[in-house]
Amino acid sequence: MAQIYLLVAGVMLCSIPACSLGQTLSGIPQQENGEISTYVRRMRRIPSQLCLKERTYFKCPWKRENNSPIQITQGTCYQHLILQQIINLFNTEDSRAAWNNTLLDQLLSRLDLSLEQLWKQMEADNLSCPYLETLVRKYFQSIHRYLKEKKYSLCAWEVVRVDIEVCLSLM
Ligand SMILES: *[C@@H]1O[C@H](CO)[C@@H](O)[C@H](O)[C@H]1NC(C)=O
Ligand SMILES: *[C@@H]1O[C@H](CO)[C@@H](O)[C@H](O)[C@H]1NC(C)=O
Repeated sequence: MAQIYLLVAGVMLCSIPACSLGQTLSGIPQQENGEISTYVRRMRRIPSQLCLKERTYFKCPWKRENNSPIQITQGTCYQHLILQQIINLFNTEDSRAAWNNTLLDQLLSRLDLSLEQLWKQMEADNLSCPYLETLVRKYFQSIHRYLKEKKYSLCAWEVVRVDIEVCLSLM
């Protein structure tokens, strides 16, 4: 009965416009998610308004309007994929050249911590999510392509940073 109630609560959460994942069900707690966003926000080096001309929208895979058949129970899987890809993106030479390395390292170790927790949950629940994996990979491919096109400029990184911050707030 309790399970049914939680499920209904999760569905109700998802019927509000900014669909946020019912954190009681799976994945990292909302509070930790907020912490990660804070680390990403802190990295900002230039005002985003200076980069309006460079702005582009990557499709964060978790937005409701994408209408993808994502199940709430797949939240853990999704979060794991996203965090792993964020680490792959930021733990590079190009990223080190653009960001304050102290703040960058703080973000990376924070991500590692959550990733480990998520990995344990996924193993315990025997989770896999090939469909989500494709969506998440596409999202990050377009980010990598964009950065390359823009020659990893500070503005390009800022645009990406903001997009990731928003994407994190949706999960
Ligand atoms: C990087 O950020 C840290 C923490 O905010 C700060 O103390 C340090 O001076 C910054 N380094 C550079 C090179 O801006
Ligand atoms: C985990 O899932 C796979 C594929 O769905 C299945 O073959 C395997 O038996 C499962 N393992 C456990 C421990 O449930």
